Amino acid sequence: MSERASEDWKPRGHGEPSNSADPSFRKGSESPGDWPPELFEEHGRELLAVLRAHFESIREVPVTVPRGTGELSASLRQDLPEHGVEFERVLDDTRELVLPYLVHWNHPSFHGYFSNSASFPGILAETMTAALNVNAMLWKSAPAASALERVVLGWVAEMVGYPAEADAVLVNGASLATLYALATARDAALGPSVRVEGLAGRDLPVLRLYTSDQAHSSVDKAAITLGFGQVNLVKVPSDERYRMRPEALEAAILDDLAAGYKPVAVVATVGTTSVGAADPLQEIADVCERNGVWLHVDAAFGGFWRLAPSLAGQVEDLTRADSLVVNPHKCLYIPMEATVLHCRHEGALADTFRLVAEYLTSAQDEHTVDYMNLTPQLGRSFRALKLWWVIRTFGRTGLAERLEHSVELAVGLREAVTAEPLWRCPVDSIYPLVCLRYEPSQDREVCDRLNAEIVEELNASGEAFVSHTVIDDGYVIRVSIGNIHTTRADVERLWRALREIAARRFPLARAA
Ligand SMILES: Cc1ncc(COP(=O)(O)O)c(C=O)c1O
Repeated sequence: MSERASEDWKPRGHGEPSNSADPSFRKGSESPGDWPPELFEEHGRELLAVLRAHFESIREVPVTVPRGTGELSASLRQDLPEHGVEFERVLDDTRELVLPYLVHWNHPSFHGYFSNSASFPGILAETMTAALNVNAMLWKSAPAASALERVVLGWVAEMVGYPAEADAVLVNGASLATLYALATARDAALGPSVRVEGLAGRDLPVLRLYTSDQAHSSVDKAAITLGFGQVNLVKVPSDERYRMRPEALEAAILDDLAAGYKPVAVVATVGTTSVGAADPLQEIADVCERNGVWLHVDAAFGGFWRLAPSLAGQVEDLTRADSLVVNPHKCLYIPMEATVLHCRHEGALADTFRLVAEYLTSAQDEHTVDYMNLTPQLGRSFRALKLWWVIRTFGRTGLAERLEHSVELAVGLREAVTAEPLWRCPVDSIYPLVCLRYEPSQDREVCDRLNAEIVEELNASGEAFVSHTVIDDGYVIRVSIGNIHTTRADVERLWRALREIAARRFPLARAA
């Protein structure tokens, strides 16, 4: 800037904006600025007080309060704010207009989908992460964050029994981890030319993927996104325990080879979403090895439970997976979003995703890992910090005790259900996922409807939250136990509520 221009260029100075309560505007300051740090601390304390009160009385907090979709949308609709308001108002509005109408996943009576937990050290780590706002794309852009990522990835590998020297990276969720793993499997099958020439208009065989009919929908989404096409995702039938049939898998692969197709990857699941089944990994790995097919294992839910002493030795051995996904945000008391993608083939993820623009070049040595090279994501938050804090604060033993507690609660619930006339658990799982069904009638449709009504009424009551699935036996209620605050009394209360609703809805239950 020339001397003259610099003289001409005068900061405007920020006066009090009309009717603004935004305290960052300090009259005459040279920047619009942020809150002064002391105000940040003051509001931080207010927020922590709100959260402390929330968790101290969490059992009086409804898991959710039903509200019509239109009414809820209308209550939050607001013109773009022209001027700032006091933070107290923002916080009050959050308490009044938002909090009641969430579904409180971090609640001891939340048992829907896969019940997860944001533990207190994890919550505080998220605050620190946001405050530092580090971008962990390169070692150079985030040295200690990259070094720490490597450390926690090694710990996770050790906890789930995967080779610690395998490549690994933190990503936001299992769905994208599977997408990335299958992109790498595809490139490994086709070779590096696919990066340059793409797939279209080339004389390539039809590429095929295989998974069980119980696999998570993220596998379908990956097949769609990566250009395999849904018709080329072969859904291998599962057995009566919802486990993939290895002999059916091999038959499908051999049929495809005979037809001139190219089998690329098998996705096996450890802890299926619907009922918590686990595919027989060793037999599947044998099939993959015999036929030169990549094995990706989705252990998003099931991977960590081997830490629970009573499940040690029962969880499938994951070591033979070419790539593996596990979800610390599902089972390890880490706030969302935190997933680990492992790949035993050194450099394979980078072969697919490494592309370094000039402005991202940096010096390399034997210690540097640039995590931007292992997935398509460039800007990455400092996810490693929350893993570091939670794993260090609880330790492996503390994590194992907590996981074991959930397993024990699930065993107790399963026993109670099995002992109750008219109720049954149509499918078993080693994991703390209990599928139950009320059957006061021989009529399957009547029972399906009744169980759906029970779920709806329970969830509307705010007392607890469960979800459902449909299996060979029909509609079943899924109770996932995994929240860090859940106690035996919470599960007993849930079981009582389910029976009371059932008895009211279908008086036969009263006679039983
Ligand atoms: C077995 C399994 N795989 C993948 C996913 C997708 O996980 P995410 O929500 O982290 O993408 C889920 C979600 O519940 C799951 O149960």
